[in-house]
Amino acid sequence: MSDIPYHLFPGLDVELIPAPSRLSPSIGGGTGYFIDEETEIEATPGTGRVAQWLRATVGAATGYPLPPHSDNGNRILLRIIPELADELGGPEAYRFTADGHVVAIDGASEAGLFWGAQTFRQLLGADAFRRAPLARKPEWEVPAVTIHDAPRFRWRGLMLDVARHFMPKEGVLRHLDLMAAHKLNVFHFHLTDDQGWRVEIKRYPRLTETGSWRSRTKFGHRSSPRWEEKPHGGYYTQDDIREIVAYAAERHITVVPEIDVPGHSQAAIAAYPELGNTDVIDTSALTVWDNWGISPNVLAPTDNTLRFYEGVFEELLDLFPSEFVHVGGDECLKDQWRQSPAAQARIKELGLADEDELQAWFIRHFDTWLSARGRRLIGWDEILEGGLAEGAAVSSWRGYEGGIAAARAGHDVVMCPEQQVYLDHRQDAGEDEPVPIGYVRTLEDVYRFEPVPAQLTEEQARHVLGTQANLWTEVMEDQARVDYQAFPRLAAFAEVAWGRLPAPAERDFADFERRMAVHYRRLDALGVAYRPPAGPHPWQRRPGVPGRPIDGPPPTR
Ligand code: ACM
Repeated sequence: MSDIPYHLFPGLDVELIPAPSRLSPSIGGGTGYFIDEETEIEATPGTGRVAQWLRATVGAATGYPLPPHSDNGNRILLRIIPELADELGGPEAYRFTADGHVVAIDGASEAGLFWGAQTFRQLLGADAFRRAPLARKPEWEVPAVTIHDAPRFRWRGLMLDVARHFMPKEGVLRHLDLMAAHKLNVFHFHLTDDQGWRVEIKRYPRLTETGSWRSRTKFGHRSSPRWEEKPHGGYYTQDDIREIVAYAAERHITVVPEIDVPGHSQAAIAAYPELGNTDVIDTSALTVWDNWGISPNVLAPTDNTLRFYEGVFEELLDLFPSEFVHVGGDECLKDQWRQSPAAQARIKELGLADEDELQAWFIRHFDTWLSARGRRLIGWDEILEGGLAEGAAVSSWRGYEGGIAAARAGHDVVMCPEQQVYLDHRQDAGEDEPVPIGYVRTLEDVYRFEPVPAQLTEEQARHVLGTQANLWTEVMEDQARVDYQAFPRLAAFAEVAWGRLPAPAERDFADFERRMAVHYRRLDALGVAYRPPAGPHPWQRRPGVPGRPIDGPPPTR
């Protein structure tokens, strides 16, 4: 039987997000598959962790024990078949078949198998996303389908800013589950900024003692005259981080830590004033920042600063096994360097032309340092200014231009243009929208986002590792607000990152909405406080938040 697009097959009740590459009725047009008290899991070698995940999720939701296979008929068969990588499109590919008494999930790797298990959970219905069975006994039926699936990109990312508003560890773990449910696999953990330092560094205790708390928080947009007059803060201990990284790894998610340098560093300078430009201002008077925007207080380009951050990164490398380590590099205001005799002397001594080259020197130092330790540097696209070392990669956020320049220069790129996939931007122009800043980026806008710039040749386009949505949290003070901004748009983003979709104008948004109608029920079962299609619930509105919406279409830069 030939494969057919899932949405063209009448009567097949299959509403997967992200949509799979290929879906067809099972060979022979078999019957649906039911799981019940008798269902067993046949976990062949290498599949034990996925079996465990199925018991913890589907087992909890159904109340069925899903024991190891003895030889009863009804079973979930898990296999790793490396040859599927060539056949279906890479190591994360999987094949899913439900027919009669057997559900077979075959992954090209354990990761592929895990994504197949995620598909299985979606097929079981929204109640499969609950943590305990309901009193009523639903029929747990999976349609008799065969799915062949593999992701378009190897980097399907989500960035969460825990510096502007701290998200307690439980929320981070929940976020990893939400990512996994959408087949996203890179968690970019924005751990430091002007407004807070969120990771324990044993040799520098003041980074968290002082740097993780601010006395008050700007309410609304940075131009707002109002503050919320209560302390805000928190941080992750190194054991918290180990737990988060391990939990992510069980879900085939890589955690990429970001320590933002040399700008966005006021919290670190408040903790260790010698890191700042002490010949320009009295840095001992600085506190963790209580405003939004870009702080002028940046790191001093001294040997002391380099040694200090080598110490930070040394501890970080022990905690995060990821190939990439993010060093920020964005929005470093250069005024203090212009005014600082020490910074000017440094520029001269190094034979540099200006402050931009001084920033490039700073970033290149850590590029060399990380490379020597077998890691790769990644930074925001400002790191291209002044020359970038080979091997470094770029998170392209200021439109497509940075990504195009980086790929043309042979650097790997993650596309996350702010005009498209900054989920802190408002979702609607209406008065009820609780977010006081940004352009309108609707669900459909995100669905029609194309990560690969059209200007790239095929060869250059190979440098696009993938794409990432970013959640900056100035206006997201808690988990419910993060949910609201992230969903449903993250579901559209996941389909863009995973699926092999047609050109943006040809994408079938109506079909996506049809599948979303079912996906909202899954999000309900997961307890996600998404933005409802008809607009925010009364409790989600925030009338009177001081803000400044940006009207009109976003600039393309
Ligand atoms: C950024 O949005 N400053 C990377």
